[in-house]
Amino acid sequence: MRTPGLKIANKFQRVCVPVAPAHPVPDIVDDAREGLLRPPRSLPPKYFYDEAGSLLFTKICETREYYPTRTEDRLLASHAPDIIRIARPGQIIELGSGNSQKTRRLFDACENTDHTCTYAPFDVCAPILEETADQLQAEYGWLHVTPLLGDYHAGLDHLPAFTGRRLFVFLGSTIGNFEPGEAHTFLREITAIMNPGDYLLIGADRVKDTRVLDSAYNDAEGITAAFNLNLLEVLNRELDADFNPCHFRHKAEFVPERSRIEMKLVCNATHQITLKELDETIAFLPDDEILTEVSYKFTHDGAEKLLEEGGMNVVKHYEPENRYFSLILGQFI
Ligand code: AVJ
Repeated sequence: MRTPGLKIANKFQRVCVPVAPAHPVPDIVDDAREGLLRPPRSLPPKYFYDEAGSLLFTKICETREYYPTRTEDRLLASHAPDIIRIARPGQIIELGSGNSQKTRRLFDACENTDHTCTYAPFDVCAPILEETADQLQAEYGWLHVTPLLGDYHAGLDHLPAFTGRRLFVFLGSTIGNFEPGEAHTFLREITAIMNPGDYLLIGADRVKDTRVLDSAYNDAEGITAAFNLNLLEVLNRELDADFNPCHFRHKAEFVPERSRIEMKLVCNATHQITLKELDETIAFLPDDEILTEVSYKFTHDGAEKLLEEGGMNVVKHYEPENRYFSLILGQFI
């Protein structure tokens, strides 16, 4: 006999805790209406990451030119023992955890120092969360994993309560996707939900030789180009649109005055697009652009300022010899 009201839980219900947004989050229809219909055209970078886009991003991280992932991973591998020794977290909570690949360095450090904690990966992609949770659970028997499903930005105020010291983790220089004012607000929002003594570990990509930056976003195999153009497939599917990727080209360059990479889709030919879901058309002329991503690059001090202006103290600042990337451990006191 089954207990009344208790359904056989599927995998999804078993592992993911839904985190409701604290405010309404615009969807792709809202964002397209806002950003696409008139110049300057732009879309938020979060729409890159459908299944194909997520796979392409993984491939970007494996290219020779895209140094951030590898650099950050090496920094983590070297300094995770130090980070765990200092922070001694009861819980590691990761904002935008993806496949949690780099975070394993922290779990390895826990294992090597006999430290135990729980892990709360927070992401929008349920299948990847579930799969990752199962894998981690199997590999690290001591690690209790509670995947949180939702928009990590809008959901900050609705995180499940935790009594004990938390280490927030925000890797990959995703902070570079925010406009400076937004980055400031976001870090303030994190500080607002921290208890005194909690830590934040953040990855930030650094300003460097323009050629190194430009080639990281223009890999020779064209994977970044495919990643950028895949956005048009997402729009076609989600908005019932008729973009032809052949009519656009990938462009990405470092703009020193703004200290950021600007990634764009640039139109090659005069043509018109219909967006059935919006009941709108867009007329495109050659060289018309859609700004698809900005990726800010920080100086040593600029990266520390992010945390300080967010209301945290910088406890440690790790960087490699070539200073390509920063990993900063901050604490809210
Ligand atoms: C995941 C936002 C950090 O800006 O470098 C990589 C995304 N875009 N290549 C970045 C990305 C093109 C990446 N972030």
